[in-house]
Parts: sequence; structure tokens; C-alpha cells
Amino acid sequence: MNIALIGFMGSGKTTIGKKLARQLGWTFLDSDGLIQQKENCSIPEIFAQKGEVYFRECEKSVLTEVAELKKVVLATGGGLPIGEDNWKILRQSFFTVYLKAHFDELFLRITGDPIRPLLQKYPTKNQLKELYLSRVDWYEKAHVIIDTSQKKLERIIGEIIERARPFYTNQN
Ligand code: S3P
Repeated sequence: MNIALIGFMGSGKTTIGKKLARQLGWTFLDSDGLIQQKENCSIPEIFAQKGEVYFRECEKSVLTEVAELKKVVLATGGGLPIGEDNWKILRQSFFTVYLKAHFDELFLRITGDPIRPLLQKYPTKNQLKELYLSRVDWYEKAHVIIDTSQKKLERIIGEIIERARPFYTNQN
């Protein structure tokens, strides 16, 4: 089985995921990276040239592929867990971890980032906060919710391993 890290942009999915995978001796993958490889195109280019709907189809297809693998830590794009279709796959093949943080903290981390096309679609802090709020219920479906606010990386990883252990030791 696998672990999927979910959460809003800036929640640390990639940083935490890489380190978590190293500690577990698992493979690290990230959905944006897989999409970029397949499409041979950056995320902003995919959004600009093919549109968000196309990007979401790519997300679903890489999620389906990763679900077939084992011992993968997957860092998901912030919009991947939105919708029942992707949740069905997540629930079936992944132990899901929501990396929760205060919106203000997330906003500080992502603001001005040119590789996040949604910052153009939601250009104000309020618009972005509405997007965040509209997603929280989906994120909270995760098996565990880890509050990352003011925690060191090591502690966050320790908590994830502790909570996920019963899941992956039962499945192997
Ligand atoms: C998105 C988040 C991004 C990336 C894309 C769309 C979103 O990933 O998938 O720009 O819808 O929240 P990160 O969460 O890694 O920034």
C-alpha cells in the first residue's frame, strides 16, 4: 500500500514526502512531477495551453497509475483530493494524511510563486482563502490530520510514521 500526503498549496507535501519516503525506505513521487514528465511541459504551461480541466484529467490518470504501485509516498497537488472520483482511488490504495496549516501561514509561503497558476486565477488573499475553505471538507476526509503549525519537520514525520504504522504493517 501507499501513503498520500494531501493539503493546500504550501502545506509542505513535497518536503515532508521526500523525507518520509527516505525514512521508510519507500519511493517518493509527486503528482505534479509525474504530470510534467508525461506531458513534457511545466504545470503553468499545461494550465495556459490546455486548461485546468485537462490538468485535472492528467491528475486522475497519474493517481490511477500510482495506485497500482506499492510502498510509494505520493505528494499530491492541492486540488487532487477534490471530488469523489479521486477519493475513491485514494481511499482504496493509500493511507491518506492531511497536512493541515493555518491559511495565513500557507498564504505567506505561496504568495508570489510563479509556478502556481492558481495564484493568477485567485489573485487576492480573500479569493484564495475562499478556495481553501471550499476544499477543507475534502481534505478532512483523510485517515489522519496532522497539524503542522509550528512543528519541526522531524516531529511531523515522526507523527505520520506513528499513525500510519498500523496501516502499513497490516497490509504488507
Ligand atoms: C494546485 C496545486 C499545485 C498544482 C497546481 C494546482 C491546486 O500543487 O497541482 O498548480 O489546485 O491547489 P501544490 O499543492 O503542490 O502547490
